[in-house]
Amino acid sequence: MKTMFPFYSEHIKHWNIDQSILFLNHGSFGATPIKVLEQQQQFQLQLERQPLRFFMRELPDLHQKTLQHLGAFLQCNPQDLVYVRNATEGVNTVLSSIPWQKNDRVLITNHIYQACKNALFIYAQRYGFEIDEVEVSYPYQNEDEIVQCVLKGITKNTRLLLIDHISSPTALHFPIEKIASNLKGSRVELLVDGAHAPGMIPIQPSETGAQYYTGNCHKWLCAPKGAAFLWVEPKCQEYINPLNISMINVKTQSFQDRFYWGGTQDLSSFLSIPKAIESIPEIFGKSWEEVMERNYMMSRKVSQLLSSKLQQLVPIPEGSIINMCSLPLPKLGRALQPGEFDPLQEKLYYEYKIEIPVINWGRENQRFIRYSCFVYNSLEQYEYLGEVLERELLKNK
Ligand SMILES: Cc1ncc(COP(=O)(O)O)c(C=O)c1O
Repeated sequence: MKTMFPFYSEHIKHWNIDQSILFLNHGSFGATPIKVLEQQQQFQLQLERQPLRFFMRELPDLHQKTLQHLGAFLQCNPQDLVYVRNATEGVNTVLSSIPWQKNDRVLITNHIYQACKNALFIYAQRYGFEIDEVEVSYPYQNEDEIVQCVLKGITKNTRLLLIDHISSPTALHFPIEKIASNLKGSRVELLVDGAHAPGMIPIQPSETGAQYYTGNCHKWLCAPKGAAFLWVEPKCQEYINPLNISMINVKTQSFQDRFYWGGTQDLSSFLSIPKAIESIPEIFGKSWEEVMERNYMMSRKVSQLLSSKLQQLVPIPEGSIINMCSLPLPKLGRALQPGEFDPLQEKLYYEYKIEIPVINWGRENQRFIRYSCFVYNSLEQYEYLGEVLERELLKNK
């Protein structure tokens, strides 16, 4: 190997990340900066010093302030936001609340996150709706191809389109605004699974044209785990209820009041969202927009680098590459067992100390390496990855 085991960027000092491993997988679970974790611990201490005072006297205000801060970041009315623990819960909340009618159908794409597909199957059995799945081809050349693929799946009975903003296996950035504008005036509602979007791309849920938008704050926004939101268009709020029906939850209450008290729980992750929103720009010394731009630039450089090293074309136009990208690899030649990691992923981890997902996806078992670029990563880390992959994948050629 030409390159020594490489360093992280200077910003790594703000994280607890184990530097003996090359962590190139911010996308799976995010990673929270030390100062945000300290803030979370403060909230936990505040709770334990006097639980009743915290839950009954202090929490209402803290909760409201958090939603306002988040609303300002998402440039939407904070009244339309509620707390959920994660995007999976956001999707479940909507699917369990929609007043389904006979013959309703839900449209999804082949890029959907498996957990959401599982939820959909359960609710389909419970409420009697049907599911249609369209193939959105990958690689693609331009956004309009994606829009056309998705629209082809709409039928007269389609009640809901559930679509990722950024997909998990393929890191495809769906043009949800264009899709929504084509659905305007129809009976089709749009539920966007924005698990990866907050902190990766600028988002304004109320401007997307969607009726429901859920996003994780614990991935690219770097809040502690268990911090997410659900935004619902005002006209749909009346029938959206939390999964965990609890005290402040009678029909006379407003949308936010129905969601406010989900039973006794630790809300410190959620309450730390404002600190996360403030921390990344502080660490980086630049605005969120500039942080995002820096991540895209790095991801584009990494894409070029790995593409030329591995002689594989990047599957999407360069301008569409965001923090996370999936580069095709030669197929494994067999399907993975449930719960089995790809052998290359295991080799990268155990032999080279690189943490990065190798994904086997879809009916044809396409295989990708999905890299995430975040402020603590350095280009040298990807140069090292490129050399390792070249050695492992091309050595027998
Ligand atoms: C597109 C998509 N949806 C949903 C999820 C689930 O996120 P969570 O486990 O935080 O609910 C993920 C996780 O990576 C995802 O990529």
